[in-house]
Amino acid sequence: MLNKKTVRDVQVSGKRVLVRCDFNVPLDKENPNKITSDKRIVESLKTINYLINAGARVILCSHLGKTGQNKSLAPVAKRLSELLEKDVPLLKDILSQETKDFVMNMNDGDVCLLENTRMYEEEEANDAEFSRKLASLGELFVNDAFGSAHRAHASTEGVTHYLPSVAGFLIEKEIAALDGGINNPKRPLVAIVGGSKVSSKIAVLTNLLDKVDTLLIGGAMTYTFVKAQGGNVGRSLVEDDKIDVAKEILKKAEEKNVKFILPVDTMAADDMTEVANVMVCEPYDIPDDYMGLDIGPKTIELFKAEIALAGTVVWNGPVGVFEISKFATGTNEIANAMAQSDAVTIIGGGDSAAAVEKAGLSDQMSHVSTGGGASLELMEGKKLPGIEALEDKDE
Ligand code: 3PG
Repeated sequence: MLNKKTVRDVQVSGKRVLVRCDFNVPLDKENPNKITSDKRIVESLKTINYLINAGARVILCSHLGKTGQNKSLAPVAKRLSELLEKDVPLLKDILSQETKDFVMNMNDGDVCLLENTRMYEEEEANDAEFSRKLASLGELFVNDAFGSAHRAHASTEGVTHYLPSVAGFLIEKEIAALDGGINNPKRPLVAIVGGSKVSSKIAVLTNLLDKVDTLLIGGAMTYTFVKAQGGNVGRSLVEDDKIDVAKEILKKAEEKNVKFILPVDTMAADDMTEVANVMVCEPYDIPDDYMGLDIGPKTIELFKAEIALAGTVVWNGPVGVFEISKFATGTNEIANAMAQSDAVTIIGGGDSAAAVEKAGLSDQMSHVSTGGGASLELMEGKKLPGIEALEDKDE
């Protein structure tokens, strides 16, 4: 549960409210002005509309892309104007007198958007002076950027040193779903963890072993576990330096009585392309010139049976190379099984959320997170600095 104050706990009417959103939306490679998923914008609307209706003067800010890429938030300003059905001017220079004058002359219910905070190197450096100047535009700070809450940057953490700071509704919703799903779940709690590397999932696996009843493993990290048990994985992706870690995780699962289920069959191929030759085999017995790229049909049935028994299912990481349709079956079948289940279904952000969205099943899940790195860090049991910095709820 979120133990921080939210927009409900403070007076916002007539105030200049600086709102950090995560408008780091995917853009079309060919046409960078085209947003390919506006989920993060849509999910921010509840807080923005609440503030507008309460008579606040809403100053939105966000990063987009990486520092140095200098991407403009213009497409986001346009999409926001459409969704809010009102003009959302984009203020091009956060630090200029023009911007200061603009916000000082806003009326109650007005909205504007500051240009990409990562156009300034000071943002990621969490520079105190930049944070102070950014904060000086508002009288209250609302953080609703769940997707960036694991970053201690100027616009997520730095500004909280200069303004009263509370959470927005999206952060509240994300914490209720993700924290509630893992720490106070309807049992049995089944977690599906996929993705390519054990190394990037060690912390999440270790944390989940203390919480879950069943852990289903998919993705390329399967083969590091299989090799740790002496299997022949052919040319599959393996992290040889993580074999001891994999052994430790297997031992811990046994000690904790967690049902730790690895794939029983694999869709192996001689190449990672749509035209590759494929075969189904045991993950312990992959031919030398083949590599495992998806879970096989028996594993799909096995995972589906566990999902059907679950009270809560938490999913992080695709179970195959879902970007290539030949190896997307496992990931799509997991998404379908979760969509049909009566369990509480929680999708961590990033690739699993993208897979569910691609399958058109987002609406059928209890929760699809807007945060990739942030939801992973939360599942690792870490505190998120952008949330920790907000004011505690009164007892
Ligand atoms: C994300 O897309 O995960 C967030 O917007 C954070 O972006 P970052 O990884 O570039 O900090």
